[in-house]
Amino acid sequence: MEKREAVMSSWSPERNQSRGRLSSHLSGTLFLLLLCVALAQDVTPKRDTCLVFESSNGSSVSCHPPAKLPHRFPADTVFLVVEFLNLTQLRPDTLQGASRLQELHLSTNQLQSLSPKLLLPAPLLRVLDLTRNALTRLPPGLFQASAALHTLVLKENRLEILEPSWLQGLEALAHLDVSGNRLQTLPPGLLANVTSLRFLDLSDNQLKTLPPDLLRGPLQLERLHLEGNRLQVLREGLLAPQPDLRYLFLNDNRLATVAAGAFRGLQQLDMLDLSNNLLTSVPQGLWTSLGQPTRDMKDGFDISGNPWICDRNLDDLYGWLVANRDKMFSPNATRCAGPEASKGQLLLEAAESH
Ligand SMILES: *[C@@H]1O[C@H](CO)[C@@H](O)[C@H](O)[C@H]1NC(C)=O
Ligand SMILES: *[C@@H]1O[C@H](CO)[C@@H](O)[C@H](O)[C@H]1NC(C)=O
Ligand SMILES: *[C@@H]1O[C@H](CO)[C@@H](O)[C@H](O)[C@H]1NC(C)=O
Ligand SMILES: *[C@@H]1O[C@H](CO)[C@@H](O)[C@H](O)[C@H]1NC(C)=O
Repeated sequence: MEKREAVMSSWSPERNQSRGRLSSHLSGTLFLLLLCVALAQDVTPKRDTCLVFESSNGSSVSCHPPAKLPHRFPADTVFLVVEFLNLTQLRPDTLQGASRLQELHLSTNQLQSLSPKLLLPAPLLRVLDLTRNALTRLPPGLFQASAALHTLVLKENRLEILEPSWLQGLEALAHLDVSGNRLQTLPPGLLANVTSLRFLDLSDNQLKTLPPDLLRGPLQLERLHLEGNRLQVLREGLLAPQPDLRYLFLNDNRLATVAAGAFRGLQQLDMLDLSNNLLTSVPQGLWTSLGQPTRDMKDGFDISGNPWICDRNLDDLYGWLVANRDKMFSPNATRCAGPEASKGQLLLEAAESH
């Protein structure tokens, strides 16, 4: 920065020889210093305070190290970012007075728990991002005043369970991300009242099974991420009431069994990822509902990385594969694992020569 250099050079010893010159230098320096501070305020944070941007919509406050969390925010704060501060706790009254708050970004701290009163002062909150913290649970009632919350991100925390009571009050929730936690099971009724959900991400957990009623509350899902778990079976009813589902990620699980009617209710599917599972075969009829003209799987499908046994049990899949080959991802990694004579053969080749 030019101005800063000017201040520095005016302090150099050879310029400060006579007293008279020193004092005129000093006033010049002071002027430059003040100018520099004024300029710096516009573009860079003061050392330990948060940045505040004001607009006609309200203030946006951004606290990054080395700033400290202030005790009060401007009353018109609509957007608050408090990240990378390694906070382990937030005072229950942290948001006191910030009644217009719409977005709260708390990612990359070390929050271990939250007060049930934290969100009470902010009933207009639409986005809460808690990515990369150390949460093992949420307090029941946290969202009792959060009827406007649209997006909740709990990605990369340490949650081993989720309780229906934690989610009570989330009437408008459309986007829920609980990926990268340590979930092993989910309780029945978890999303029974979360009926506005359109995006659900449960990927990269340790789920072995899913409760059959998981998706009976939210009936308008568009995107479902279940990849990176330990699922073994996809049952008939799980996805049945999801006519709007467009993206379905089931890859990197241990799926060996998919029920014949598992995809039957899906009328809009644009993408299906079943790669890297333990599928050797699929039942007759599984594919008939997919890839039809009205549900044309336009963004593709992936069934690579499975130990397909290329015998007559795959007849149904073969026919479908040939008809939809232009939408297939990773054909070169989609190979037969058996029987012995077909081992290593491309599944697509097996389908064509069938
Ligand atoms: C204020 O909000 C309106 C409506 O949400 C938005 O279109 C506009 O870009 C916002 N203005 C500023 C300065 O953020
Ligand atoms: C937060 O913790 C990390 C890892 O221990 C450390 O590198 C970083 O300097 C800490 N940040 C603050 C603001 O204390
Ligand atoms: C769902 O909402 C109903 C009606 O408001 C309520 O009685 C029930 O306790 C709620 N269940 C859960 C799990 O939040
Ligand atoms: C297909 O895969 C084989 C081994 O899995 C590899 O050697 C070959 O280069 C791949 N071909 C293409 C076109 O990617």
